[in-house]
Amino acid sequence: MAALIRTAKDFRDACAEVRRDGRLALVPTMGFLHAGHQSLIRAANSQAPSVAVTIFVNPTQFGPNEDLARYPRDLEGDLKKCAEAGASFVFAPEDPKEIYPEGFQTYVEPGPLAGPLCGSRRPGHFRGVATVVAKLFALSRADVAFFGEKDFQQLAVIKRLAVDLDLGTQVIGRPTIREHDGLAMSSRNAYLSPEDRQRAVALSKAMAACRSAFADGEREIARLEALAASVLTESGLRVDYAELRRPGDLERPPEATGDTRVFLAAFLGKTRLIDNGPLEG
Ligand code: PAF
Repeated sequence: MAALIRTAKDFRDACAEVRRDGRLALVPTMGFLHAGHQSLIRAANSQAPSVAVTIFVNPTQFGPNEDLARYPRDLEGDLKKCAEAGASFVFAPEDPKEIYPEGFQTYVEPGPLAGPLCGSRRPGHFRGVATVVAKLFALSRADVAFFGEKDFQQLAVIKRLAVDLDLGTQVIGRPTIREHDGLAMSSRNAYLSPEDRQRAVALSKAMAACRSAFADGEREIARLEALAASVLTESGLRVDYAELRRPGDLERPPEATGDTRVFLAAFLGKTRLIDNGPLEG
């Protein structure tokens, strides 16, 4: 098992100590780890001799009607997976006060990258993400930090945050890891009933449909979005959004190009799943 740290002070001290000997890489997570998280830890390992994983279900990034209370947790299993993937130590605060001390009132407000997609459907979500990530960067002063492209908008917001606030941590995105049928790995997949788990493959099918229409010459954004939405709806998913956006600024392009990304969010019952990927490549 990877060594477990429970307080912010001990985490700060442990990070400072390993940084004396070399680079430190950080992998922030909310736990209930899967192969996608492990691939981030392995990538971190290839870049730095010390890898710190954080496990914290961050309350400020959940809306009032979201799944904070039922978010899946398995600290013991997570510690094993961290060790297996080569993490040096794990910071799992024993109390949210380790991150949000009594009287906490200072937040990081991200800019336009946090506006569309999940930003408009989950008000305050990226403010919570940016705030906790800024805190984790400040505590660890890691040289480099790894995040998955499954949360592409989050990755864009965090890259901007690190540059805008001169946090001194390089932010690296890594490709989405998928199940055998194409479903993007996510801790929230654990909520799905066996029937919904089968339906969930519609997200990657919707993306594949857009790719194939693009390969056949379709360039109109609205038509590609409608196609993605129809694949989701036909499989019984409730569409939250099905949008095409540019990867750099997350704006809608005048017409689709190979690097235009398909962004999808859809509900299966109460479970909200997201996915994204480029039209080409
Ligand atoms: O992607 C996640 O697991 C979380 O949003 C993060 C980046 C760890 C912040 O709580």
